Amino acid sequence: MTFARIAGTGSYLPDNIVTNRDLEQKVETSDQWIRERTGIEQRHIALPGQSTVDLAEQAALKAIEAAGIETTDIDLIVFATTTPDKVFPSCACILQARLGIQGCPAFDIQAVCSGFVYSLATAEKFIRTGSSKKALVIGAEVFSRILNWEDRTTCVLFGDGAGAVVLEASEETGILSTHLHADGRYEELLHVPCGIANDFDAVKAGQAFVEMKGNEVFKVAVNTLGRIVDETLEANQMQKSEIDWLVPHQANLRIIAATARKLDMPMDQVVVTVNRHGNTSAASIPLALDEAVRDGRIQRGQVVLLEAFGGGFTWGSALLRY
Ligand code: ACO
Repeated sequence: MTFARIAGTGSYLPDNIVTNRDLEQKVETSDQWIRERTGIEQRHIALPGQSTVDLAEQAALKAIEAAGIETTDIDLIVFATTTPDKVFPSCACILQARLGIQGCPAFDIQAVCSGFVYSLATAEKFIRTGSSKKALVIGAEVFSRILNWEDRTTCVLFGDGAGAVVLEASEETGILSTHLHADGRYEELLHVPCGIANDFDAVKAGQAFVEMKGNEVFKVAVNTLGRIVDETLEANQMQKSEIDWLVPHQANLRIIAATARKLDMPMDQVVVTVNRHGNTSAASIPLALDEAVRDGRIQRGQVVLLEAFGGGFTWGSALLRY
């Protein structure tokens, strides 16, 4: 049986750090409000001219190096983003050319904050069915470009960054299961209400901004993530105590803590980056995973649960033996 196993991880954050105190100068907010409601203390924001693929390229090179392979060994690129460099071609194709790879399939996946889990699940299926041997899976965003910096209810929440993994075919267990879901009925609780084919004038006027009914999203997120934890454990006939690490999407510390409680898991088994990165949407899970792999917390053989919830609504999990 062929499994898909993570061979290497990488991540990249723009140098430019914006603290809560900096935001106090722009909108009517306070460091205390942001910390108490979200756990966020600072976020990295891309400089003008720095694009999603620019961030992704750095993360990808690190993941490829960590996997001990050549860029030309990559035979699939799956790229999760909501903030692509261009309408087309996809970020995956732009990145493919930058990495000097030709011919392999390369495409983007748009599932907002669940994008990385969706992409990992997709790449896993390519590997399991023998269509791919070494897949590059990316989550990268410059979410700062779709924020209204005068809207305190959204601009304090998000940040920019990129994370990547190389997934390779292996006889050893890797990804144990993935579970993906969506429910489009909640479109208007969390969205950018304009696009290419709808109210393009707003896009041209530079007003394609995130709108969110945060309070309502919060409630659905907590309940949904609780359900996906149950679904994942049940599918693998596993007990909560068998999970070594939770690597959640980093939207809000209170949502993360609720999921940890559901798993009876102490917070020191939860990888938290939201305090330093804010919500980097599709990039948040691979950023957190890379941090915990590189600092030695996550060890080979340990069981890791990834879970995400985001616009769509979309949600999903991946359980893996690292
Ligand atoms: N600073 C100060 N006050 C603020 C700010 C701010 N930055 N933002 C809102 N407030 C005010 C509100 O106006 C409101 O004031 P009022 O009581 O006078 O009306 C008050 O604070 C409370 O607002 P709520 O929205 O009820 O605050 P809440 O505790 O729900 O926290 C938050 C808001 C942080 C957005 C939370 O609801 C949340 O995290 N929601 C989920 C986000 C999420 O998970 N999104 C999914 C992934 S993201 C994606 O897919 C793109």
